[in-house]
Amino acid sequence: MNSLPRVTVLPAAPVDLAGVAALIAGTNGHPANQSLHCAAATPAAVRAALRRVEDFPGGWERGFVVGTTADGEPAAVLGAQLSPDGTLGWLWGPWLADERHWNTPLPAALLDALNQRLPAGVRQLEAFLHVENRDARRFLQARGFGSGLVTHIYVCRSARTGCAREVGADLTATHEVAFARLHADTFPAGASTPADELLAGRDTEHRIFAAVDGLRLLGYVCVSVNRAPSEGFVDYLAVRESARGRGIGSGLLGRARRWAFVEQRLPQLALCVSDWRAGARRLYEQAGFALSASGVALRRRR
Ligand SMILES: CC(C)(COP(=O)(O)OP(=O)(O)OC[C@H]1O[C@@H](n2cnc3c(N)ncnc32)[C@H](O)[C@@H]1OP(=O)(O)O)[C@@H](O)C(=O)NCCC(=O)NCCS
Repeated sequence: MNSLPRVTVLPAAPVDLAGVAALIAGTNGHPANQSLHCAAATPAAVRAALRRVEDFPGGWERGFVVGTTADGEPAAVLGAQLSPDGTLGWLWGPWLADERHWNTPLPAALLDALNQRLPAGVRQLEAFLHVENRDARRFLQARGFGSGLVTHIYVCRSARTGCAREVGADLTATHEVAFARLHADTFPAGASTPADELLAGRDTEHRIFAAVDGLRLLGYVCVSVNRAPSEGFVDYLAVRESARGRGIGSGLLGRARRWAFVEQRLPQLALCVSDWRAGARRLYEQAGFALSASGVALRRRR
């Protein structure tokens, strides 16, 4: 058996881009090593993700640390993408080229180096690992990260699958108060974007489509454009309890699909759904969405 190479952890530099992209892509190739905040599995897709993530102030390398062997090969990578308000660090990784390094001080050295590098305003770190990525989960749990719920990522790659019915038009001022109430009742505060932010953030790439019956709001779907990968994303879908089971949810999803594939000409439409939302999962599967990956979130205050 080969001996383990010595690895030195340093802040990432622009020159590391190709090696880091190759390491992440190679490691992501197996679910047991995947970090779902960047699940890209080709070097080109990882490079695009690193370049296009807008929230890395000063370039991707600002929020990354790399473990390098004596001959200059990247052997480990960990990074953090900052939330728009700068208080959350979404962890990319950790990725290790050689799984034997999990039993060495290397992963802890990565995390410590990243912690030193992140701005003081980052209050919480949050990883999102494939459910089969047990090594990284065990490591983060040992470092004080608590496990959250299992979440599933679904992707639809065709404009034509599922039901053809379409429901919903842009939310108007008449229904904004009802939207805020239904959103707060359906999605727990803290873990979701508040309604006032969703309302204020509307533009061509952030839409809210509403199903209404006169003055009554029956349901809504919030959609947005993701850059890396390039896709439409269903951020929220909800139908008022008394209106469920009448095809409104699938109709709103049909409207979201036209927006993504026809109006925005995006190649896919994706979404995340918590494991316990069995009804919503059935709806997505019937509507032509396929399960892409299942992940678990792990969080720690900084
Ligand atoms: C999920 C939700 C949007 C569905 O809205 P809806 O208007 O009832 O959905 P539809 O009437 O279009 O149902 C379409 C299909 O979804 C499935 N479905 C919807 N709700 C279901 C439930 N509670 N149990 C099982 N299947 C369900 C069914 O397969 C249904 O098809 P069928 O009527 O032919 O059996 C609604 O239940 C809701 O708002 N739930 C709470 C919020 C939520 O879970 N949102 C998704 C989070 S990502």
